[in-house]
Amino acid sequence: MATETTLVILGASGDLTSRLLLPALGQLLQREPHRRVRLRGAGMDDWDDARWREVVRAAFAAGGVEDAFDIVAETTYLHADITDPADLARVMADPGDRLALYFAVPPAVAAAACEAMAGVAIPDGTVLALEKPFGVDEPSARRLNATVSRLVPEAQIFRVDHFLGRSTTLNVLGVRFANRIFAPVWSAEHIESVVVKYDEVLGLEGRAGYYDKAGALVDMIQSHLLQVMAFLAMEPPATLHERDFRDATGAVLRATHIWQDDPVAASRRARYTAGAVGDRSLPSYADEPGVDPSRGTETLAELTCEVRNERWRGVPFTLRSGKALAGKDGEVVVTFRPVNHVPDGLTGAAPGSVLHFSLGPDRMELELNVNGGDDPFELERATLEADLGAGALKAYGEVLSGILDADATLAVRGDAAEESWRIVDPVLAAWRAGEVPLDEYPAGSLGPDNWRRLP
Ligand code: BG6
Repeated sequence: MATETTLVILGASGDLTSRLLLPALGQLLQREPHRRVRLRGAGMDDWDDARWREVVRAAFAAGGVEDAFDIVAETTYLHADITDPADLARVMADPGDRLALYFAVPPAVAAAACEAMAGVAIPDGTVLALEKPFGVDEPSARRLNATVSRLVPEAQIFRVDHFLGRSTTLNVLGVRFANRIFAPVWSAEHIESVVVKYDEVLGLEGRAGYYDKAGALVDMIQSHLLQVMAFLAMEPPATLHERDFRDATGAVLRATHIWQDDPVAASRRARYTAGAVGDRSLPSYADEPGVDPSRGTETLAELTCEVRNERWRGVPFTLRSGKALAGKDGEVVVTFRPVNHVPDGLTGAAPGSVLHFSLGPDRMELELNVNGGDDPFELERATLEADLGAGALKAYGEVLSGILDADATLAVRGDAAEESWRIVDPVLAAWRAGEVPLDEYPAGSLGPDNWRRLP
């Protein structure tokens, strides 16, 4: 008989639950009907079961699942203050075969709830899933790690990063490790630069309460893009099991430093002013409801890092992400070095080959130099393209499947969470000290005019 998991979503009435978690859960359970899940919602809102079931039904329908209550064994709602030990004990009562607590709440509430759990009996095998950001800097991430590690073993702590569940991120593994044409050339000897970018057309979308304190660097680079970089730069693991895999990605982050240890020269920040993104008009970020302009929160950030080890020393890894930009552009761009010598007699430029992985729609492209169609002695550029497909599951579906299997491979390990803050903390400090100008760009543009364009 399959293990039945009691999945409790703490913060059940929030946006993350209805917009991302429940649709992905519905899709996962429909595709994998052998899974047995009892779903519980818990939160501060005084809802009853009927109200919660309506939220579940609507969110499952949004994920393409019409018959929600045929696929979740049972679902109930508990009105609870999750920072109160007595309420937490109620939330954890009747855990079934295995309990998974998903903290879909702001980080400060999750931290307070974990403190409160210290005095409550936690059923064996309980999985804790915590959303980003994990802490607000390296010391706070260390403290939070100390708190959660007193509750359950590390392998049961899921620091969620949905980019680890994206099919393109996972595709990087197959391309890198299963092809002799890439595996031997995946190093500083052959690769000149790597860019990981995630430009979005979305603006603030009413998230000032969270975003105005986070900004693009913390929201995207400290978490998602550093993790994608770790996939790109890791040593080949012997297996994709949790230990081998996370040892390898953790080692990359430990070796990662800001380019030339100069947070001022290695970073840039900007925020959007009023403009139009497609047919949507956006106000200036500073005029968005709930924003405190004096915080100087950036909506576009760029950071160049170096992975200081034998394989990568000297190769810039540039990470960039921003909001309210001209188009959605999520991509990994690996630029190879040019060949040492092109035979005399072949004319035209022979820049290095470029490999692109696009992060939704999931595609791969390889730009190569080829002999020209007209004049066979003149070099031209040609592009090989492959559609990688969107993956059967949404990214949050992959995340939830790891949680239900208690397999932490695609969750961020405690040391990696601390390292990611260690990497970006000097940049945040330089920005707070005003050492890097806060540039501006009109919403709907490609970014500030004076910024160098990335490949
Ligand atoms: C989230 C960020 O983690 O990732 C958002 O908080 C961002 O600001 C989002 O828009 C991007 O991921 P996706 O998968 O929604 O494109």
